[in-house]
Amino acid sequence: MTLGIGVIGAGAIGRDHARRIENALAGGKVVAVNDIDGAASVRAIEELGLKATNYPSAEELTAADEVDAVLVTSSAATHEAFVLQAIAAGKPVFCEKPLAPSIEGARRIVDAEMAAGRRLVQLGFMRRFDPGYRALKQVVERELGPPLMVHAAHRNAASGPGFSTPMAIHETAIHEIDVLRWLLNQDYVSAQVIFPRSSRNAPKGTADPQIVLLETTGGVRIDIEIFVNCTYGYDIQCEVVGEEGLARLPGPEAVTLRKKARLSQPIPTDWMERFIAAYDVELQFFLDNARAGSVSGPSSWDGYVAAVVAEACVEAQGEPGRIVPISLPARPPLYD
Ligand SMILES: NC(=O)c1ccc[n+]([C@@H]2O[C@H](COP(=O)([O-])OP(=O)(O)OC[C@H]3O[C@@H](n4cnc5c(N)ncnc54)[C@H](O)[C@@H]3O)[C@@H](O)[C@H]2O)c1
Repeated sequence: MTLGIGVIGAGAIGRDHARRIENALAGGKVVAVNDIDGAASVRAIEELGLKATNYPSAEELTAADEVDAVLVTSSAATHEAFVLQAIAAGKPVFCEKPLAPSIEGARRIVDAEMAAGRRLVQLGFMRRFDPGYRALKQVVERELGPPLMVHAAHRNAASGPGFSTPMAIHETAIHEIDVLRWLLNQDYVSAQVIFPRSSRNAPKGTADPQIVLLETTGGVRIDIEIFVNCTYGYDIQCEVVGEEGLARLPGPEAVTLRKKARLSQPIPTDWMERFIAAYDVELQFFLDNARAGSVSGPSSWDGYVAAVVAEACVEAQGEPGRIVPISLPARPPLYD
């Protein structure tokens, strides 16, 4: 059976996911598109050559008989409403991060899914599907002994328009918050943020770089450098130090060039290029599970936890150096 997919939000990642469902993945077909900017839907349908209907509203798209599963790739503030609609319709939904911008919004989705009594939501924390992070997790679990420290960095060449200091947490560190929790299989107990001198390339009045310090339930200390105007490329680093060794995230495969007495290797320029394989794998995983009637992978609970931790980090930004405790309710059995 080929799943009829409805895409809500035909922006950058919505179009990219629609393209991969049509051209790279198996088992799904984009049959419906909605964007609050109708011209964006039309453009996506035409540019990608989709045989899809342009729906006037997200509600109508989700309710349509031809739509078996929904992709929520609209702006962050709209995710909660669209995910709740899909849950109410009993349809599997893949939601790009964040699940919801607020802790309360994320909790409402968890509660709705628990009331439905089954997993319907997969969240777009794609790093869990990146071959490099998966290889690193195997080494951490089998070779390293108990982890002690993690040193991570998330660098973008330049921040987009409208960048603000809290966005470094909500838009950027959120990926590290999730993937390191998954990598270590531990939750967080505290957050702290400190600010080095800001780069001259940071937008006026914003703090960039920032250092986020997290402590886990198992006493692992994590430092994450967030530097979104580093100028040189899109660079994701992760190093785990354990009792019996040190493991480092492999970079993307790239040819090394020896020329004019220099050894060089290209660095990706954006997230789309760096995590292209991870996006393919996460979405194929969603299609396969939705077809089998059992959604799995990064969950609403993971989205809720990320929202709680991100909020603690933003609170910590308000008083650099202060340690903000993090407490989470017990994980509901649906998410075991
Ligand atoms: N997992 C990742 O690595 C990753 C990467 C990029 C973006 N994202 C997330 O995906 C989401 C979209 O990001 P983007 O870069 O594609 O943004 P974008 O601005 O390019 O696209 C968002 C689209 O949503 C549409 N939209 C806004 N409100 C809407 C509504 N009420 N109903 C229907 N459509 C609406 C906009 O018109 C726009 O076309 C964000 O939450 C972002 O954080 C995740």
